[in-house]
Amino acid sequence: MRFLLPSIIAVLGLVAATQAGCASAHHELPADLPALPPTPPMGWNSWDSGIKLTEHNVEATIDAMVGSGMRDAGYRYVNLDAGWAAPVRGPRGELQVDPTRFANGMAAVTRYAHDRGMLLGLYASPYDEGCSAQPALASVDHETLDANTFAAWGVDYLKYDWCRADADHDTQVRVFTKMRDALRNTGRRILYSINPNSSVDYTAGARYDWSGIADMTRATTDLYPLWRDQMPSLGPYDPFPVGADLGVPDEFIAATQVVTSSRPGYWADADMLVAGLGWDQWAARHFASIRDSLALTSVSDDQLKGMLLQQPNLSDTEQRTHLSLWSMLSAPLIAGNDIRSMTGQTRDILTNRDVIAVDQDPKVTPAHALATDPRVFVKPLSDGSVAVAFFNSGEDPVTIGTVAGDIGLATAPCYSVRDLWSHAETTSAGPLGSGALPAHATALLRVSGGCR
Ligand code: GLA
Repeated sequence: MRFLLPSIIAVLGLVAATQAGCASAHHELPADLPALPPTPPMGWNSWDSGIKLTEHNVEATIDAMVGSGMRDAGYRYVNLDAGWAAPVRGPRGELQVDPTRFANGMAAVTRYAHDRGMLLGLYASPYDEGCSAQPALASVDHETLDANTFAAWGVDYLKYDWCRADADHDTQVRVFTKMRDALRNTGRRILYSINPNSSVDYTAGARYDWSGIADMTRATTDLYPLWRDQMPSLGPYDPFPVGADLGVPDEFIAATQVVTSSRPGYWADADMLVAGLGWDQWAARHFASIRDSLALTSVSDDQLKGMLLQQPNLSDTEQRTHLSLWSMLSAPLIAGNDIRSMTGQTRDILTNRDVIAVDQDPKVTPAHALATDPRVFVKPLSDGSVAVAFFNSGEDPVTIGTVAGDIGLATAPCYSVRDLWSHAETTSAGPLGSGALPAHATALLRVSGGCR
């Protein structure tokens, strides 16, 4: 969670967030390193659910990923975010696991994952000042040792989070490149996911091209399990009014504006999925850090809880919209809910194979909005069909429509139309419509030329 630290918020206004630049490093991998699949990674991350990171809880999550069908739907990474490491480095300066929480060590956990067809990810930061605030664990100048430690444990994925107020671009390039090189030199193929945005410059991930450095880059600021902010003002450090933290529709729009979008083998990260995460649960689990970051000294804990709880949870309709839009972006799908206690409804949303197929289409093309109607998003797919999303971000019901020719399909006497949420198949002579679309709903169709 990143309700920003006060020091960060205080200088937000100083950041010029307009100039696009270019990260110049090359992205050639040593020839003997296996390639990653070209499609966006899918998995789970521990941060949002706030579950305590212990060997038992991680292995229970892996079991739940297998048992619930998440693994078979494609969610293979189990990523331990901040909190897995012991609070101090070991005698050789190495990162170490907390011996009481991970009695058998991290290699035992990765083995547990691998034995069940899953992959394991860890979290680190070059500075660790602004996020979980454990500067003793900072990886800067420990890159080789840390990368070798991860490789020796059999780790498959590293989330490398900037976590420092200052975000000078040249320094970010240098520091992120150093860890990239250290990971490559291990000889193990570790997916490298960076977040340049955890700083005063929370659009650095979107404004610069990081594809020469990382496999995956956070394009956006942190996503919260809400639609739009409906809380009373949370004081001078409230992150929502300045856009430092966002809900689903605004995060989606921010992710469509990134300089380098997802393409085969490189993915723009719109942040973890918030389906199945109630705002009320989320705020309760992260209450202490919310309290710290807001620095609202005149407000009691109970008053702050009351303010936070004015925010409604995401509805099912909003959660389906979320999955539809992230799939249209070709964004990584990293679930953030507690898989062990997931409801059937959440499981059905997260494992909808028709929607996942849009995300995982090998063409890895991001959706674009129609110039004639910005509520219509279009994504060409590798089999010649086209995914189209009719997105009602407004507060009133609408009916949205287009025609097959406008979404890039060649003229045909008949088109096949599959509704990716109801799974109903229909045909059309050309017109395509959302039907009556409630507030915050998205209709997601896959359309191809020709009818059986
Ligand atoms: C930042 C990241 C989050 C999470 C936290 C951990 O806010 O953006 O995804 O990793 O740090 O402190």
